[in-house]
Amino acid sequence: MSRPVRQRKKVFITRAIDPAALMRLCAAAQIFVWDEEMPPPASALLSALAGADAILSMVTDKIDARMIASAPRLRVISNLAVGVDNIDVEAATRAGIAVGHTPGVLTEATADLAFGLLMATARRIAEADRHVRAGKWRTWGPMTMLGRDIHSSTLGLIGFGAIGQAMARRAMGFGMRVLYLKHRSGQRKPRRDAGLAGATGVSLNRLLARSDYVSIHVPLTEKTSRMIGAREFALMKPGAILINTSRGAVVDQAAMVGALKSGRLAGAGLDVTDPEPIAPRDPLLQLDNVVITPHIGSASIAARASMAAIAADNILDVFAGRLPRRCANPQVHLRHPK
Ligand code: DGY
Repeated sequence: MSRPVRQRKKVFITRAIDPAALMRLCAAAQIFVWDEEMPPPASALLSALAGADAILSMVTDKIDARMIASAPRLRVISNLAVGVDNIDVEAATRAGIAVGHTPGVLTEATADLAFGLLMATARRIAEADRHVRAGKWRTWGPMTMLGRDIHSSTLGLIGFGAIGQAMARRAMGFGMRVLYLKHRSGQRKPRRDAGLAGATGVSLNRLLARSDYVSIHVPLTEKTSRMIGAREFALMKPGAILINTSRGAVVDQAAMVGALKSGRLAGAGLDVTDPEPIAPRDPLLQLDNVVITPHIGSASIAARASMAAIAADNILDVFAGRLPRRCANPQVHLRHPK
């Protein structure tokens, strides 16, 4: 009597990832890697999802309800990111699909970049580098390229989860005072590490009024979308600097350009924009007091390898019949394999 042949599981990976993680997935499933610089277009995603048991996705892949509805075998969407705003998590949960993500391993790398942007903006490092390369360094000048002090100034953190707290630790090491946005009653309080006793929780208005630097560390949700707009810029200390390494859409970009042009904001250090990539004619690109990096907060070699390892584990967990170890929708009732 012939035994039924068990089909190998199919995994679609939307970009080349760390080889060690890839090898582990190869041992367990049939893998298709979209090996291009640009992400797969929606049509390619749709057709890949039609036969996939798992997808390992990136922040650049929009996985909406239509995609999810056209994926009858799919049991896990494993995002190579901590943020899952590119995925319709509610639709996935309704369909019995687990959503995996990669918190923790990118915390320090992202805080490093956020603090680097703060320093680059405060001390005009990118602008000074352009000055030198343009052949404008003719002599030492007592009033040349003056920036702002970092030590003894105040940093206001919007978002005091793991990355916000890692940013606070860096700031304290530089002799800064740290304020953070206090959670309203009813909201879940982040676990706070003991070394951060000197940080003070305040209201948003107070944080904006008192901070020399404001750094954003909240996920993009309906509540946080455009949470920093014209009203908030008007409340900021004149000459403050804004740092954003979370998501561009947390800030009203047109209002930010206005605040930068009027001098209300002395500068901005941005790893994220809305949209991404930034449009070539975006007014932000004309402003010397803005430092922009192309969404590289977690882009250290070690962090990206760890993210790929967790993203692979999240898929292998589901293939073994359990929820991903890092699950963004732990309430999901996982659908049965087809
Ligand atoms: C994340 O993890 O959400 C980043 O934005 C991508 O590294």
